[in-house]
Amino acid sequence: MDERRFQQIVDGDGRIEPRDEMPDGYRKTLIRQIAQHAHSEIIGMQPEGNWITRAPSLRRKAILVAKVQDEAGHGLYLYGAAETLGADRDELLDMLHSGRQKYSTIFNYPTVSWADVAAIGWLVDGAAIMNQVPLTRCSSGPYARAMIRVCKEESFHQRQGFEAMTVLANGSPAQRRMAQDALDRWWWPSLRMFGPSDDNSPNSAQSMAWGIKRFSNDELRQRFVDATVPQAEHLGLTVPDPDLRLDAATGHHVFGEIDWTEFFEVMKGNGPCNRQRLERRVTAHEEGAWVREAAAAYASKQAAREVAA
Ligand SMILES: [Fe+2]
Ligand SMILES: [Fe+2]
Repeated sequence: MDERRFQQIVDGDGRIEPRDEMPDGYRKTLIRQIAQHAHSEIIGMQPEGNWITRAPSLRRKAILVAKVQDEAGHGLYLYGAAETLGADRDELLDMLHSGRQKYSTIFNYPTVSWADVAAIGWLVDGAAIMNQVPLTRCSSGPYARAMIRVCKEESFHQRQGFEAMTVLANGSPAQRRMAQDALDRWWWPSLRMFGPSDDNSPNSAQSMAWGIKRFSNDELRQRFVDATVPQAEHLGLTVPDPDLRLDAATGHHVFGEIDWTEFFEVMKGNGPCNRQRLERRVTAHEEGAWVREAAAAYASKQAAREVAA
């Protein structure tokens, strides 16, 4: 293939479409990244789905059902994008179920109170937006287009989380404590969502050259901290980091050391909920077999009817 032409399109900020020639490594990297992103979307339904039956009001329940359903939709667009690159959806799911492909470590933490649902919307969806907005301009056409719609929905998720957090932070002393506890639990795992620091992120340079990645993990993490700390202040909550301070010279927040040991432990499968999440996913897949079979049977009937007509 003509690698020069490929690189020209990438360097000229163009899009690589499924039928275009692309280096094998590019295709493989994209399929892996999109698949892991898709897996994160559908596994991410679990920690919040857990609260649908216990939402504190009908309004909160309706919002939460819509949000969890959005995440399923994000998974669908992304598996669809991976398929345009030649991946097989069953194979990708099999890799997830057998632990050969990963999903975001953040979803291996439990949601112990209602405030965690609010904190997830505010912090986890907030971090997802920071990561995903640059991907709307990535070099892969299908991935970039999927991200445009996903980001619109993520921004709704982030706002509903912040709004729910605002209500708790301005509520009774017990509600304020719940909100603070949730921030204490979710702050550091959210910072780790951006991935290892730049000096420990071996594939970043190649992804940047391919136009998949636009900003480094540390740059995006810094943006998230700078955007989120004032929001915590607005809520009257304390970010659980004694080293956090605003550097007047740079205008950026300096923050404490991240516990990477915990990150790699959760990555390896030793987080508080890894086993539970994967078991639930496999069960859901098995219990959904009849739905897939029915959909396939219906599609083939439709196709046969079209041929007959
Ligand atoms: Fe999502
Ligand atoms: Fe979301």
